Amino acid sequence: MSETFFVTTALPYANGPFHIGHIMEYIQADIWVRFQRLQGKRVHFVGADDAHGAPIMLKAQAEHITPEALVARIAADRPRYLQGFHIGFDHWHSTHSSENTQLSQDIYRQLRAAGLIDSRSVEQFYDPLQGMFLADRYIKGECPKCHAKDQYGDACEVCGGVYAPTELIEPYSALSGAKPVLRSSDHFFFRLSDPRCVAFLRQWLDQPGHVQPQVANKAREWLDGQGERTLSDWDISRDAPYFGIPIPDAPGKFFYVWLDAPIGYLAALKSYIDSGKARANGESRTFAQLLAAADTRQVHFIGKDIIYFHTLFWPAVLRFAGAPYRVPDNVHVHGFITVSGAKMSKSRGTGISPLRYLEIGMNPEWLRYYLAAKLNANVEDLDFNPEDFVARVNSDLIGKYVNIASRATPFVTRHFAGSIDYPTGTDELVESARAALELVGASYMAREFARAMRQIMTFADRLNQDFDARQPWLLAKDPAQRTALQDSCARALYGFKVLTCLLAPVLPALAERVGRELFGLQRPLNWRDALEPPRHIHPYRHLMTRIDPKQLDALFESAADISLDTKPEPQTQSAAAATTPGAPAPATLSIEEFKRIDLRVARIAAAEHIAGADKLLKLTLELGGETRTVFAGIKSAYEPAALVGRLTVLVANLAPRKMKFGLSEGMVLAASDETGGPYLLAPDSGATPGMRIS
Ligand code: 2FM
Ligand code: ZN
Repeated sequence: MSETFFVTTALPYANGPFHIGHIMEYIQADIWVRFQRLQGKRVHFVGADDAHGAPIMLKAQAEHITPEALVARIAADRPRYLQGFHIGFDHWHSTHSSENTQLSQDIYRQLRAAGLIDSRSVEQFYDPLQGMFLADRYIKGECPKCHAKDQYGDACEVCGGVYAPTELIEPYSALSGAKPVLRSSDHFFFRLSDPRCVAFLRQWLDQPGHVQPQVANKAREWLDGQGERTLSDWDISRDAPYFGIPIPDAPGKFFYVWLDAPIGYLAALKSYIDSGKARANGESRTFAQLLAAADTRQVHFIGKDIIYFHTLFWPAVLRFAGAPYRVPDNVHVHGFITVSGAKMSKSRGTGISPLRYLEIGMNPEWLRYYLAAKLNANVEDLDFNPEDFVARVNSDLIGKYVNIASRATPFVTRHFAGSIDYPTGTDELVESARAALELVGASYMAREFARAMRQIMTFADRLNQDFDARQPWLLAKDPAQRTALQDSCARALYGFKVLTCLLAPVLPALAERVGRELFGLQRPLNWRDALEPPRHIHPYRHLMTRIDPKQLDALFESAADISLDTKPEPQTQSAAAATTPGAPAPATLSIEEFKRIDLRVARIAAAEHIAGADKLLKLTLELGGETRTVFAGIKSAYEPAALVGRLTVLVANLAPRKMKFGLSEGMVLAASDETGGPYLLAPDSGATPGMRIS
């Protein structure tokens, strides 16, 4: 065995469940990991919850629980998703762990010894009611540039201006509404602008293979100080109260979450090894030995929003922390997932809930295949398009791949008692399998999964055409053509076995079933099994159903929640703004925040059932001169006819949402709990359509 891969995906914040963006990244990494394993490589694939930071602390506070309890609750749900989508992490850990504390403190001490930690006094807004310093996200006020009200402390959502929170006019705390006061405090900085860091990062980015060229270019923009981006020293400390790791020799100071989050990758690996679990994966070395070994490869899969942290801070921190830490060997960056062209909100996801997908019985391997068919090695966004999803999966997986086995196997079962013979020998077939393995293997290796899927489907097309041209259904009727029949089926079924090996990284459960149920293997198929022509096949058993478009209706209906939602996080996080990760979780809503919600009286002008929808009704609402279409999840409680003419309450400034049945332009409000509902809200008599509710 040569290389050992240590592979990670970005650690998810522990204050919310996985959304489809996480699942996409995990599927991408999992396919690559499975491919390496099929090649016989050893891979340690680990993940963890990113547990620290102010948003998690505040959310726990709002729920009157400890941050540990909040993190534990979220963590408890992780296996449902991971197992559900066949994501094979070897180990899942947490950044709130003894390993992470030890490693973060050790790395900090090494950086300090290297002269790369500075202490400086920083003047910052402090919330006297909440008793804490306020990150930019928790300060609001009037934009100093365009004078829009209620803008965040770092950037204006109206004019796009970027500024310091101290420049806001009439600032207030988004947590308590209090007027913040300026206070000084000592902060620790990692000296990223030190010439040693800059020289190292230039050289690291220049070496091909560490990051994609477009990512290196982006990272160099900071190194070169282009535009607003400059490489400044990095504030790695936060004052108590903070849910984080204590900084050695500095009472009341904690590491900023982004310092200990990537160290969580190492903590997860350490916990995996120290627990003895890695031995089952053939790993007998210690954590330090593994990291220090020349043939270890440290590989991170991340999204494009966190390039800055992973291609500048993280390599520099590791480089100057010294042995046994190693600098990342590869950072693979992917784009975002959109749904029908609409961007995802970090707090609301995309409208596709991964758990809902599983709960309504959709096959996880459909999604794995669809994502594989669209993923490449560039930093491009990927669009989940429902019609395309149905068409692609049904045509490729059922129409091309499964089809071969379902058509050829019954002839072999009926006419040859399951025995596969090759009347013209196997040399040419094995050669063509070898060529396919090489071609497709190179695509997997380079994370060009879409290209790999195209190559695999071209192979499947050729098999189907060959099978059709030989017309085995006619040969089967003529005893004189027995050899020709045998030949046509053997070619098809060997091809099917090759296809299964090629698809195994993407369809692990199906490949396992095919190996066991059809080819009688006692172990999972591996890559080289494709060079062994099968000699026997068991009777065909149903392998995969087509996607019924109705399932997609059910999937998208869940997006029509009828409860108020919090303000979503910004779509992307610029390095300048990247100081407070995680969804905001204010303990209370300030009146200014509440005022941002445009609530209107609306008259239901029309209400209709929607073909294929179990929960939704389509409502046409009049707002006094304006008409809106809203899909509301109230079908269980209302007959459409009974709604027409009624007044209700509409959230009028909710971003329009593209749903399976069309665009939903707002949300009606209703009450419900486990005892009943939904009960639509209605204003008192006298209110008229369009009136503002405050
Ligand atoms: O952006 C995020 O969701 C972060 N929780 C990612 C952290 S990745 C790593 F550094 F831990
Ligand atoms: Zn502005």
